[in-house]
Amino acid sequence: MEKGTILVTGGAGFIGSHTAVELIEAGYRVVIVDDLSNSQESVIEAIAEITHTPVDFYEVDCTDKEALNELFFKHKFNAVIHFAAFKAVGESVENPLMYYHNNLLSLINILELMVEHEVMNIVFSSSATVYGEPDELPVTEATPTKPAHSPYGKTKQMAEDIIRDSARAYPGLRAILLRYFNPFGAHPSGLIGELPRGVPNNLVPFITQTAVGIRKELSIFGGDYHTPDGSAIRDYIDVVDLAQAHVVAMERMRSGVGKSACEVFNIGTGQGLSVLELVHQFERATGVKVPYRVVERRAGDVEQIWADTSLAANELGWKATRSTDQTLRAAWAWEKHLRGVK
Ligand code: UFG
Repeated sequence: MEKGTILVTGGAGFIGSHTAVELIEAGYRVVIVDDLSNSQESVIEAIAEITHTPVDFYEVDCTDKEALNELFFKHKFNAVIHFAAFKAVGESVENPLMYYHNNLLSLINILELMVEHEVMNIVFSSSATVYGEPDELPVTEATPTKPAHSPYGKTKQMAEDIIRDSARAYPGLRAILLRYFNPFGAHPSGLIGELPRGVPNNLVPFITQTAVGIRKELSIFGGDYHTPDGSAIRDYIDVVDLAQAHVVAMERMRSGVGKSACEVFNIGTGQGLSVLELVHQFERATGVKVPYRVVERRAGDVEQIWADTSLAANELGWKATRSTDQTLRAAWAWEKHLRGVK
């Protein structure tokens, strides 16, 4: 039985593509919009192959309101999941206007069209970045947010405010903000995964690229943090687990359950791992060595953060289920597939 049609913006990206698969497998019809600025059209075919379902895809930039408007007329959307955004922290420092323009205008267009076309449910991809360097660990959804260090982080904070204000102002509008911790891994089919353009931004693609020999060694940014082994701590969440959180958020909206018009959930494992621990765990899980060197801290990094995930467990009935080993092996299989290595 079809449960409704969902507009997935940024659906060719890393998290968007995995979410599209989970939504289709859960019985939703998915319409993907992506400008392919940081993704490839082949991902759409891969989603169709995994799900044995043709996927509606439009190459549209969400800052183009007219083009989006046509899609809102053409399809009767029941909800929107809004992923489309730029996400490179360093790039956002160098080119803040590009980030504010793209990330905020896209969101505003989506919300305006939702109100105009009476599409009343939105799930938004927020980030643990809104917590900054937290005073208490693990962070709950009630932990105060801190001013973000980068324009990218600020766009996530502003986006949360824009959505919160809209949910308050427009009767019937409902939003779920998912604050992702550090997504990693790939789909078990081996057909979709993280596709960093040029130099990656995140740790796990650096680890797998070093393991496969594209990079000589991994730089570990900072060995003098106040953590047991001196490297920074994060909460690494499997991308398929993360994708499934969107499906349960959608179910919650469909069934009308919810404590307020705008709800926030942390999406992580609840477990902190240091960079060194993750590297050693990768080596154990795959049997492949990762040459590394501890270097200076990276500007703007927080020392440690991990999630309290009890709200998602209690309210959404969602919990991460995949082990770090399993996800590291999936990331490794994906890297080898990309490079044609057996
Ligand atoms: N790291 C290394 N070496 C690398 C890459 C990363 O040591 O080559 C370290 C970082 O310094 C950090 C940890 O690995 O301590 C994780 O770094 P990532 O870049 O993978 O992730 P971040 O926690 O910095 O970034 C995540 C999200 C971003 C978001 C950011 C802000 O991926 O989208 O949180 O909280 F903006």
